[in-house]
Amino acid sequence: MFKKFAAGAIVSAALLATPAFAACDSGEMVIKFSHVTAETGHPKGEAAAAIAKRINEEMDGTACMEVFANSTLFDDNKVMEALLLGDVQVAAPSLSKFESFTKKYRVFDLPFLFPNMDAVNNFTQGPVGKDLLNAINDKGYVGLGYIYNGLKHFSADRPLIKPSDAEGLKFRVQTSDVAVAMIEAMGASAQKLAFSEVYGALQTGVVDGQENTWSNIYSKKFFEVQDGVTVTNHQLLTYLAITSKEWLDSLDPEVRDQFLTIFNEEVVAANAKATALNEQARENIVAAGGVVRELTPEQRQVWVDTMRPVWDQFKDDIGQDVIDAAVAAGE
Ligand code: LMR
Repeated sequence: MFKKFAAGAIVSAALLATPAFAACDSGEMVIKFSHVTAETGHPKGEAAAAIAKRINEEMDGTACMEVFANSTLFDDNKVMEALLLGDVQVAAPSLSKFESFTKKYRVFDLPFLFPNMDAVNNFTQGPVGKDLLNAINDKGYVGLGYIYNGLKHFSADRPLIKPSDAEGLKFRVQTSDVAVAMIEAMGASAQKLAFSEVYGALQTGVVDGQENTWSNIYSKKFFEVQDGVTVTNHQLLTYLAITSKEWLDSLDPEVRDQFLTIFNEEVVAANAKATALNEQARENIVAAGGVVRELTPEQRQVWVDTMRPVWDQFKDDIGQDVIDAAVAAGE
C-alpha cells in the first residue's frame, strides 16, 4: 500500500514525542502531522485535529493520523527535512518559512497587502494562488492547501502607537526577509527565532517585541510578557499544508483520493472558522488583563506609509503579476 522510508538521523525525536491524537492500530498506515502551535482555540491546531478525527473514523483499518502539536516533534525548520525522510507525512509551516525553497511566497508577507481574510481567500482560491501551491514541487514537496490563521499585530515592552515608537527595539520575526525589511523600516532590528523560543526571548529581554496573530499571542501567552498589543493588522499569517511527493505517490490511488478529499474538506471548514477563533483569542487576552491598543485611521496610515515601500525590494523575486493579483483580490 505504501513504501517504507529509510529512517533518518532525526528519527530519534519522533520516537520520544507523544501525539495529541493517536488512534493507530497495528497494520494501519500511520500519517504523522507535526506542527508548532496550540491544539485548541487555534486555527491550525483545530484544523489538524479535525483532519485527524475524520481520517481516524473514515479510514479506520487502512490509515490513521497522529497529530504532534506545540513543536513536540519538529520545529518548522527541521520538519521540512523530516518530510523528505519519511519521519513525518504532513506539516503546515507558515508561508514565511519557505524562503530557502522559493522566493515566490514572499507575496504573502508583504505588509498591508491583504485588508482582510476575504481578500486572502479570493487570492488563494484564484488561479495565481492555486498555482503557487506548486511552487516547491521541484524540491520534492506537494502543497495540499492553505490553512488560514489571520492578520498579525505588534506587541512590545512599551506602547507602540507610531512606528517610530519601535526605534532601537529588537523584534522577533519568522525566517522571512520581508519581515526583517519591514522591522528595519520602523527603525528597529529583527531577530529570526523559532516559534518555540519566542516566549522565553520576550521574557528574558533577548528581544523586546514580536508580531503575531491573536491566537498565537494568546495561546503562547506572549501578552503576559509584553506591555501591550497594538491592533495593526499589518501582515498575514497563513500556512502551507505540505506532504512529500514520494509519500503521496506511494499511496494506492483510492487511499490517496480519500485522504485528499478529507484533507481538503476539513481545510475549507477550518478556514471558515479562523477569524472567529482569532477574535475569541483577542477577547481572552483582554479578559486575562492584557492590554490591547486600537489605532485611529490616521495613526494606522503612518504604519502603512512606513512599511509599504518595502514592497519594492521584493517585487522582482515575487513577480509584479503575482503582486497585482494579490492586490486585486482585496479590491
Ligand atoms: C510563528 O513562527 O510565529 C508562526 O509561524 C507560528 C505558527 O505556526 O503559527
